[in-house]
Amino acid sequence: MPVSVIVGTQWGDEGKGKITDLLSRDMDMVVRYQGGNNAGHTVVIKDATFKLHLIPSGIFYNNVMCVIGNGVVVDLGVLIQEIETLKAKGFAVENLRISSQAHIIFPYHRLMDKAQEKKLEAGRIGTTSRGIGPCYVDKYNRRGIRVSDLYNEKIFREKLAWNVIEKLFMLNKFYNMKTELSVDEIINEYSGYAVALKKYVVDESSTLVDEAVAKNKNVLLEGAQGTMLDVDHGTYPFVTSSNPTAGGACVGSGIGPKAIGAVIGVVKAYVTRVGSGPFPTEIPGKVGEDLREKGGEYGATTGRPRRCGWFDGVVMRHASKVNGLTHLAVTKLDVLDDQEKIQVCVAYEYKGKRINDFPTDIHRLAECKPIYEEVPGWQQDTTKIKEYADLPQKAKEYLEKLAGLANAKISLVSVGAERGQIIRI
Ligand code: GDP
Ligand code: IMO
Ligand code: MG
Repeated sequence: MPVSVIVGTQWGDEGKGKITDLLSRDMDMVVRYQGGNNAGHTVVIKDATFKLHLIPSGIFYNNVMCVIGNGVVVDLGVLIQEIETLKAKGFAVENLRISSQAHIIFPYHRLMDKAQEKKLEAGRIGTTSRGIGPCYVDKYNRRGIRVSDLYNEKIFREKLAWNVIEKLFMLNKFYNMKTELSVDEIINEYSGYAVALKKYVVDESSTLVDEAVAKNKNVLLEGAQGTMLDVDHGTYPFVTSSNPTAGGACVGSGIGPKAIGAVIGVVKAYVTRVGSGPFPTEIPGKVGEDLREKGGEYGATTGRPRRCGWFDGVVMRHASKVNGLTHLAVTKLDVLDDQEKIQVCVAYEYKGKRINDFPTDIHRLAECKPIYEEVPGWQQDTTKIKEYADLPQKAKEYLEKLAGLANAKISLVSVGAERGQIIRI
């Protein structure tokens, strides 16, 4: 079976964790390819809820090798905590692998993230304050510290010393933060992490992935965030600092595009966004708030309330194009069960003209108004349905409309958070 990619098609939190877990049953390997612990991927197995930030969502199957790929930025303390939590709940976590090429998040990255946000004031991005952006900046500035560096004391100290001096200068002089950072203390703390994680670290993680592909194993590449948070294709600058889109899956796992056979876009039946930035179909007032309560739309990482909006077909088309989606997994259909009427955005109006393509310039986007088509709700409980044929007719029509806007085939419909609440088509 070819390699598959799981990608968020909106602003994150589409239900990638649930879909990855579901598909992992048939996988040999799951690779997280970008982002860090800004992600929060929820997996619900019976009455137990797991929120994963760094470990791939295939970890609940003992036979699946779970790789934190080279494209991920890793907060080692958070990772150790996550491993411990899973172990305490009876999961062995034996099959975890961490790429030695993954970059490490340090305390100064978190401080820089917070300082930048404070400085931006009204224009702040609303980051998760996990240090993601500053860590990727160091990576691309070729100043980053990778997992492999932890195991070379001389190089680690040298690189860290430079970074600490530079960041202290920025934090204290430019951001007025009055901060202290000790190289020795960081080395002490991180050396402990290095020992604890050593057994999971692999050199050449791309070789590991390549070997699995060569042996015709089933490999799933798990994206974090979503297309509209992509640093190139999203609502820049209100984005994250990596490429969640399908191209990022190649880079972040070390695999060539020819190996990829399926790109599965995870699509929430409506849209949510955490943090600031444009959101054309956002629903103001009570309707949006009701959707938030019904859908439990609070961040899995920061607990922040998610902004809620109607399904956006322009965003969907954009996601379909930049990811080359082959399949769709529609989630949270059940959250719309009570709606009498549902709005679907089919295009935008820009300066009096109808446009179908997503404007990636946010100033143009700010002038766009959604053009809605109203569809009747099905007003029936879908949470126990297992077969597509048993869905209410109006729910099927809604799904067909979404698939038409995406120009891709729906292969999964999720009707509840629990692992078993799924319709396979
Ligand atoms: P991710 O970041 O894309 O993995 O998504 P999150 O885990 O942050 O957010 C999705 C939320 O919706 C989680 O609380 C899931 O348990 C929940 N969820 C996933 N699929 C469904 C579904 O079909 N119906 C309902 N009601 N909840 C779902
Ligand atoms: P998952 O994988 C939703 C958002 C933040 C902020 C912007 C930049 O669970 O879908 P960052 O900390 O990355 O610099 O923040 O991106 N963001 C997410 N929103 N789901 C996520 O991950 C997100 N990861 C980052 O809220 O707007
Ligand atoms: Mg999430």
